Amino acid sequence: MTSKNNVNTSINLYDQAEKLIPGKTQLISRRASGHAYPISPIYAKHAKGSKFTDVDGNEYIDWVNAVTAVILGHSDDVVDNAVKDQIDKGSIYTLNSPLEIELAELLNEEIPSSEMVRYTKGGGDACTVAVRIARGVTGKDKIIFSGYHGWHDWYQAANYGADPVTGEFPFAGIEPIGVPQALAGTVFPFAEGDIATLTKHLEENKGEVAAIMMEPMRSMLPPDGYLEKVQKLAKENGAILIFDEVSCGWRMSIGGAQKYLGITPDMSVFAKCMSNGYPMGCVVGSREVMQDADKMFISSSYWSDNIGLAASITTINELKNRNSESKFKEIGDKLTNALNGAIESSGISAKTHGIHTRPTISFTLPDPSIGPKVNTLFIQEMSKRGIYGTTAFCATLSHTDEDIELTARAAEESFRVVLKGLEGSLDELIETEIKKEPFRRIVS
Ligand SMILES: Cc1ncc(COP(=O)(O)O)c(C=O)c1O
Repeated sequence: MTSKNNVNTSINLYDQAEKLIPGKTQLISRRASGHAYPISPIYAKHAKGSKFTDVDGNEYIDWVNAVTAVILGHSDDVVDNAVKDQIDKGSIYTLNSPLEIELAELLNEEIPSSEMVRYTKGGGDACTVAVRIARGVTGKDKIIFSGYHGWHDWYQAANYGADPVTGEFPFAGIEPIGVPQALAGTVFPFAEGDIATLTKHLEENKGEVAAIMMEPMRSMLPPDGYLEKVQKLAKENGAILIFDEVSCGWRMSIGGAQKYLGITPDMSVFAKCMSNGYPMGCVVGSREVMQDADKMFISSSYWSDNIGLAASITTINELKNRNSESKFKEIGDKLTNALNGAIESSGISAKTHGIHTRPTISFTLPDPSIGPKVNTLFIQEMSKRGIYGTTAFCATLSHTDEDIELTARAAEESFRVVLKGLEGSLDELIETEIKKEPFRRIVS
């Protein structure tokens, strides 16, 4: 594997973006500050399977996969051909599309909480639709949440409530600029597993809570009995339980984390990889909860677009055809073993943790405050060796044994550089800005 670090075209484009696009990127997680700037690539020109090529012509094995929106692999032939066929028939009609019914039936078959369905084009939109329905059905306004749920006002208003101990917003680094102050005090966070805080919010807002919105899991399995306790509290307080499966859906099980974990919420939100990267999201739920949405103003022109519908139907069928659940387990276990092997042979003090769909490396450090520097150095060295990612690795079904082998080899070399850094030359070895976390995730 050759060492690569010419990303000059990426850097020039990023400089232009600064003048043309406030914030430089459309998604905070795509900012260069989340990787090793200016060594990690910033702009891509081609992606296929498990790899992409940046605008400077460097090829990378991709462990981020469009911020996990791609599940089968980039530019999957079967999904793309279904989309191309659909384009020939019309990407959007004047009338409604029968594909809306076909996909709803498929979602009902696969997802335990699904009896009725609404569509959107993204995850944050879908969370917002779910909140509107919950408020409309219960006649209550307040929302308690645990997770990341997008950019909309209902959610970002949580940042008006700074933590009384640390003074930090729930999402450190994000100020609620532009979010109506009138929404302050309508939405409250609780950390994963923190039943005491959830109970406190429910008691302090008795009779006013429309919904508990939560990511049921991300990189780790939830604590035993935790989700059942949340479900019981939601029921006792007349609040609708919504699982946000935008990040955790599809990979563990085609029916979502809820199917894998054996717990059925009232409503659920899916997006990202349900369509292998084509814009698509959905809110599903019990007939009892969803039915009344017909009285609410929930409406948008592009939610009827055929491309996302065709891509979703094909992606879900392909996940089934390709035995995705066992294949993800196989890929995840191989990757974890290979990374553990690299840790062992390099002699670094580190470990892998997390479920097979997102193995994550954490370094054991003499001083935790050097964590961001160590992670940056690792990402920098992996980038130079043609591996794009962070310390968490999210595979697609197109990742091969060779990708895993090359990744482990690059990781071993990168660990050796990190080891050198830990012996005293960390600052000299880091050639980039220190990676910034865009915001703190409540569910890890
Ligand atoms: C759990 C969860 N909910 C909602 C969203 C927002 O989705 P989108 O970026 O499509 O609006 C994300 C995005 O990362 C997410 O991970």
